Amino acid sequence: MNKISICEARQAEAIGQQATLQGWVRTRRDSKGGFSFLELNDGTCLANIQVVADADLPNYESEIKRLTAGCSVTVRGEMKASGGKGQATEMQAAEVTVHGWSDPDEYPLQKKRHSMEKLREWAHLRPRTNTMGAVMRVRNRICRSIHDFFQEEGFLYVHTPIITASDCEGAGEMFRVTTLDPANIPLDAKGQVDYKQDFFDRPSYLTVSGQLEGEIYATALGKVYTFGPTFRAENSNTSRHLAEFWMVEPEIAFYDLEDNMGLAERFLKRIATEVLANCEEDIEFFQKRIDDQVLETLQTIAEKPFHRISYTEAIERLEKSGAKFEFPIAWGTDLQAEHERYLTEKLFGTPIILYDYPDAIKPFYMKCNEDGKTVRAMDVLLPRVGEIIGGSQREDRLDVLETRMKEQGICPEDYWWYLDLRRFGTVPHAGFGLGLERMVQAVTGITNIRDVIPFPRTPGNAEF
Ligand code: 4AD
Ligand code: MG
Repeated sequence: MNKISICEARQAEAIGQQATLQGWVRTRRDSKGGFSFLELNDGTCLANIQVVADADLPNYESEIKRLTAGCSVTVRGEMKASGGKGQATEMQAAEVTVHGWSDPDEYPLQKKRHSMEKLREWAHLRPRTNTMGAVMRVRNRICRSIHDFFQEEGFLYVHTPIITASDCEGAGEMFRVTTLDPANIPLDAKGQVDYKQDFFDRPSYLTVSGQLEGEIYATALGKVYTFGPTFRAENSNTSRHLAEFWMVEPEIAFYDLEDNMGLAERFLKRIATEVLANCEEDIEFFQKRIDDQVLETLQTIAEKPFHRISYTEAIERLEKSGAKFEFPIAWGTDLQAEHERYLTEKLFGTPIILYDYPDAIKPFYMKCNEDGKTVRAMDVLLPRVGEIIGGSQREDRLDVLETRMKEQGICPEDYWWYLDLRRFGTVPHAGFGLGLERMVQAVTGITNIRDVIPFPRTPGNAEF
């Protein structure tokens, strides 16, 4: 049994082979000449393979002619050159085995095209659509490039915890982890929740970022990265936010902000280059069906140098631009998506790295500049997607860090271990976080972030 994938079967080299193909029927077409065409897909590539099943097959009338979309089959036969358009090969079936039927009156993925919103209701079936299949193959390729890039650069993959007691971003948008019974919360003498009776003896949460733990390992092992799920309980129903998303976070000892920017740019260029080189068919599909700017975006990331400008300069450029914005621009406020897009799309036409943000809008751990009002932060912005990376050089001076924590209402004693890194052999260091789903959005052109992750978690949505 020479089992081959449909991706392999579609190559001209397969012609002449006896092979076994397995997958799901997309369509069946019966010809007047007494045979049927089956379009088969197994998820290994976007395209289907055409199977020719002759009427003299023993189960032709009883089974093959009853096959409909969604049925699962094994087909054995010979790979032949195809006369059909858009395909080099087809299979002449010698045997068709049906594994599972799929009632055409009930199976939702019939010929009709469904909206992305509708498909979200069938999270268990949507991976069988062309769009989700292509998204998942591209997502996989990005993950592979992420690991390859860091491994080749000598980074160590560190697994930081999912459950933690610390709030890295200081934004208080954390999901609580507890085994206390919500109907019967134990209280202490002061009438406060008695966390001593909880599983971890303290308030605990799902992590919003692996950075703080990443810093611990970077200041021992040099170059590390963590890559895992992160959680944010921000109640924002936007096309760019998930409650559960994947983040890759490199952290590097003896790095300053310049080094950090260089790493981020090389990293994104590597991903874009490899998606272009390895996902040709899927990208072509996105270009045709989803967004005709996808190729250009990828090429821009891969080839054009990223512009680097300070936050202050960006504000000046936006003020001078004369463009009308819904949100007013003022030094000291966070940039809105419309400002980010104006900068990347209208002013520069390339990805940009914004740096040196006002300290008041950034977390406690970022290194303070001499000017007393900005920190060594950096955000990488992509055309049409906006912020894709957030990072910084870290504050490595104990006293400054403690002051910043107090300013932001964070109790230094709770972070004694983090401060120890500054007490014992402190070093300049830096890192950043890339949101995986935003990257998948950027390279596929998919507008809603819920459609680039298998099972999106958003306010009100966690059924399956
Ligand atoms: O800018 P953020 O919040 O940075 C951090 O968490 C740092 N601790 C990272 C670091 O320096 N190690 O998040 C980083 C990136 C964002 O640029 C964005 O791409 C993504 O994570 N992100 C989200 N993606 C989907 N849904 C959300 N709710 C996201 N929040 C952030
Ligand atoms: Mg950010």
